[in-house]
Order: sequence, then C-alpha cells, then structure tokens
Amino acid sequence: MISEPSVSENALGRQPGEPVQSAITYEKIPTHIYADAKDASRAVAREIAALIREKQQKGQQCVLGLATGSSPKTVYAELIRQHREEGLSFRNVVSFNLDEYYPMEPDSLQSYVRFMKEQLFDHVDIPEGNYFIPDGTVAPNKVSEFSRAYEEKIQSYGGLDFQLLGIGGNGHIGFNEPGSLINSHTRLMMLDHSTRAAAAGDFGGLAQTPKKAITMGVAPILSAKRIVLLAWGERKAPVIRAALEGTVTEQIPASYLQTHPNALFVIDQAAASDLTRMQTPWLVDTVEWNKQMVKKAVTYLSRTLGKPILKLTNKDYNDNGMSDLLAQVGQAYDLNIDVFNQLQHTITGWPGGKPNADDTNRPERAQPAKKRCLIFSPHPDDDIISMGGTFQRLHDQGHEVHVGYQTSGNIAVADDEALRFADFVVDFNDKFGIDSPEATRIFRDAAAFLREKKGSEMDTEEVRYVKGLIRKGEAKATCRFVGIPVENAHFLNMPFYETGKVEKKPLGEEDIQAVMDVIREVKPHQIYAAGDLADPHGTHKVCLDAIFEAVRRLKNEDFMKECWVWLYRGAWAEWDIHEIEMAVPMSPDQLMRKRLGIFKHQSQKDGVVYQGSDSREFWQRAEERNRATASLYNQLGLAEYEAMEAFVRWKY
Ligand code: F6R
Repeated sequence: MISEPSVSENALGRQPGEPVQSAITYEKIPTHIYADAKDASRAVAREIAALIREKQQKGQQCVLGLATGSSPKTVYAELIRQHREEGLSFRNVVSFNLDEYYPMEPDSLQSYVRFMKEQLFDHVDIPEGNYFIPDGTVAPNKVSEFSRAYEEKIQSYGGLDFQLLGIGGNGHIGFNEPGSLINSHTRLMMLDHSTRAAAAGDFGGLAQTPKKAITMGVAPILSAKRIVLLAWGERKAPVIRAALEGTVTEQIPASYLQTHPNALFVIDQAAASDLTRMQTPWLVDTVEWNKQMVKKAVTYLSRTLGKPILKLTNKDYNDNGMSDLLAQVGQAYDLNIDVFNQLQHTITGWPGGKPNADDTNRPERAQPAKKRCLIFSPHPDDDIISMGGTFQRLHDQGHEVHVGYQTSGNIAVADDEALRFADFVVDFNDKFGIDSPEATRIFRDAAAFLREKKGSEMDTEEVRYVKGLIRKGEAKATCRFVGIPVENAHFLNMPFYETGKVEKKPLGEEDIQAVMDVIREVKPHQIYAAGDLADPHGTHKVCLDAIFEAVRRLKNEDFMKECWVWLYRGAWAEWDIHEIEMAVPMSPDQLMRKRLGIFKHQSQKDGVVYQGSDSREFWQRAEERNRATASLYNQLGLAEYEAMEAFVRWKY
C-alpha cells in the first residue's frame, strides 16, 4: 500500500497520516491528497518499487501498465533514482503502455515509444524485449488484429498487477475518450478535440496533431489488480471532482474506476481543490472557524443561496450545516457585517496606495506616496493580460513602474509569423544591405529553415532568436501603450526556458540570479508576480519559484523591508473570492483600454500555438474573468463594477 499522505486534508486541520473517514461519503474512490506532485509521486513510486521487490522475492514477473503524459514523469524520475541509488532492479518487470498516437513512427519526437525510453526505460535495467507499447505503424487493416493480440499478450503474462493512469481534462483514461463504454477493448480511437488541443503544443499546432490513437480499452484497464490514477494542478480539479464524486458515466471514463475494488487516486492539493471536502469542509467534518474559514463559508453560503451577504439569516446558516459557526459567533447579523466589511476593504482604485488617506483598512500603504513597482511577467504578455488595468493605474497614479519579462516566450510564435519577419529583414537587406553580416546570416538562415521546416522539427537557434525578438517587440509596444519608458522593460531571458521545446529545464542558479539582479536594480516597494501555484509543469510555476527564492535570499537587504509582494493569477483561473486581498476595479473604458493593450501581442492572436483546450482568445479570457470577479462581488452585495483584477499578498 502507498504510505499515508504527507499532507492530508489540511483544510480539516488533520495531522499528516490521519485517515480520512467522513470524506468517504463524497468521494467514491479512496483518495490521497499531497502538498505537491513530488511528494505524491514519491509515494506512488514506493508502492511500485515494493511490488517489484515482492514479486522478485517470489521469483515472479511484475506486470505493470504504464502511462505517458506529464503526470507520471515525476513517478518515473523517482523510480530511476531508486534504481540508481537504492538498487531497485527492473529485470523482472514486464510493462504494457496504455496508448500511442496513430499513425506514429516510434522514433518521432512525439512518439510514446520515445517518451518511455527517455523518461524510464533507457535509465533502468528492464530487459529490451520486456516492454510493449501499441504500435503506431501497423497498417490500418491490421489494427484490430494488433489490438486483440495486445490484450492476449497481457493475459499471457497473467494480467496487469498494477496500472498507472493519468486523467484527461475531459475525463479520459488512456485515450478512452468520453463515450467509451465500460466493456470497451483495445482499439483505434478518434481523439476528442480537447485532447488534440491539449497536445497541439507538442506538434507545433492543431493541424499537425494526430486525429487518432490506439488505446487499451476500459475493460483491460479495469482488469488490473491495482489501479493508481495521478492528477496534478488545478486544471484537473473539475474532472477530479466529477470522477470521484459524480455518478459512473461514460461521459467521464475515469468514473468507471468507482467500480474497481482496488483503485486509488493520488492527487495534489490543486487538483483536489474542487472536492467537497475542500470547497465546503464544514459539511464533511468539524472545522476550526478561523477568519479565513469563516470568510470562505459565508461567501459560499451567499453564492449558493443567491442572496447578498447582508441578507443571510440565522435560518440560512442553520439550514446549511453552519449552526456551529453561528453558535460561536452569535447572530447572522454580526457575522454578515464582519465578512461584508472584510470584502469591502479589499476593493481599491489605488493599487499603489492612496496618498494622504487613512490606510488602516486599505490593502496598500499610503506611504511612500510614489512607489517603485516591479511587475514580473512570466511570458511577454502576462502583465497586460492578467493585470493590465492595475498596470495602467499604477502608471497613471504616478508610480515608477518596471516590468521584468522573465522568459522570451519564443516557442509560442507560429512559424509563418516568424517567417514573415525574417523575410522582411532579408528582403530589406537584399535591396539596401545591412551592415552586419551576422545579422544577415541569422535572418537568412532562419527564413531558409522555416521555408523547409517539417512538422515536428525543432527550431534552430536562429529561428528561436527571431521568434523571441518578435515577442520582445510586442512587450515593448505594450509598455509604450501604457506609457512607461522602454528602459523600464527588463528582459531576463531566463535560461530554463530556452530548450526550444515544451519541456523546460529545471530552475537553475542563473535563473534565480537574473530575478535577483532586477530586484536589486529596481529596489521595488511592490512586486507583482504570477501566483500560479497550481500547474507543476508550467512556466508560470517555475517563474514564481525563482521569485520566491530570490525574495527569500534578498529579504535581509534594507530596501526589502519596504517591499510587499502581490500575486496575480495567470490566464487560466482567478483566486477564490475569500482569498482575495486586493481587488482593483475597472470601468468599461479602462477594460477596453486593457483589451487594446493585449492586442499589441499580435503573435498571440488568431490561432495561437498554445491554445490549450480553451478556444477563447487571451483578451476574451481576461475580460470574462475580470467581469466574473466584479459580478461575484456584486452578487455578494457589494457595489457593481464592470470588471476587477484580483491579488493576494505573499507575506515572506
Ligand atoms: C497517456 C494517456 C492519457 C494521459 C492524460 C493526462 O498515456 O493515456 O490518458 O494520462 O491525457 O495527460 P497529462 O498527464 O499530460 O495531463
């Protein structure tokens, strides 16, 4: 068995290792929640290693069902570590992978054969003929025969002892897309649009992304003796709730695991964030009613009942499982006013502090009246997308605003966009000549490469340079638009990002130094950072880790004593209402101005490379989200604004 979670149910105030009981009524599959993917992966790897060793002792083979994708990578890394450092041998392991794109050559960049070799097989002692992966090269008329034989082979080894799974945002397991039946067998599957959109980044765009895959069916997956499903990051939160708490349905194939006697979900806190025990822990167990929990409960009640906070009654609290809260506080009236005021105090049109005003109940200090503000933008457009209104206000209200653009963002520029720019320079050069032969070479090489580029080829250094330059130009255009001098735009080009691939290097010393340098240079009173704690593989998270580390190292410097750190959320999600500590409203005109600022990022408009499964453009996502935040405040009974940007303070 997997050892107990290191962080479990913290919302309930439980100690690590304590069993979850009451939550079982909501989650229909045992679920272990960990602080992060690393801790969780270690526990899963320990279970797999124990199984391999147990089988070894009995002189038996250990038959594993393996998955690809981002989720299991950390598990494989830990297994490799155990192989190297703790002598874990894979000589008795036989493995079957869930799926492979179709058609697909095994040595292609995106092939799952290549993935498994790079992530696991090449680093351990599994014998060459012991691993099996669906063959993306079989002829179309042979796929059925191949699929039958694949399942027979699993049976010939006595069936799967252990199946590792990830979960798609649409609930797929393997590539069993919504609609797959519980008795489905290994077969060729049409991929769902959302699955293809999620994979499009790896293939350089949706058009190049395969439409089909061979996948192990639901039936062979469910016949494994043990199943462990992994999920990290808040993008998985809604589907995790549906799979664990909803009914068994072919619309969410992962919900079929509810019918398995020995399945386990191992997830991080972000992926768990929509579960009932996280959303409304007071419905699950006794909770400690601290300030944060009270705010969460009252705003939840107000939203669920569709009633402004100030209209909530004693009966509303009692009828909705909050009688103990009421007993503690006394009257709904007092509770309502207290939470209402807390929310009211988060709203400010003065994100840099209001000069000469009493700041006791304001999110920011009045002094110094003119602040130095440093906005960190992980990609060149996050500043304007996520906090464009606040960016503009800070400048308009006389603060000295700087932006630290953390990465070049070069992989998100489409080839034809880069070719257009490279051609421009080449044509200009052909007519007038450019002084620098090196400049001529870079653009000529880039243009030549792009003209001949094959779908899955990695960009050359020259092309990456051109793409980076395009994004840099767009970021500078936004700064001019807002009104800050271009010298206040600092381009960090953090090295971890520069792989030319979706997969990035781990955060390194040079990255942290780059962040420290710009903080030292600006000596800010305010730092704004993209607080995407949720996506363990995302660029935003790495960029944030670099800022956290830089701030920790610098915190004893004199200028840091004055420095507050505000976290905004990236393009995907907003802070929960009870978490928000500063909400900056925007008028319709200000919102329109923000839209125009986002438009400066032309390479990220109209069919971007990394669309993800959300087909809206970035300006649409930003506006809808900012409007939703304002409307939420309004539903709770506060003033009605057009839109709002929200921040949480990180107290280091
Ligand atoms: C991979 C597979 C898929 C993934 C799922 C989640 O072999 O079969 O079901 O597990 O799409 O992918 P990630 O882990 O990349 O979020």
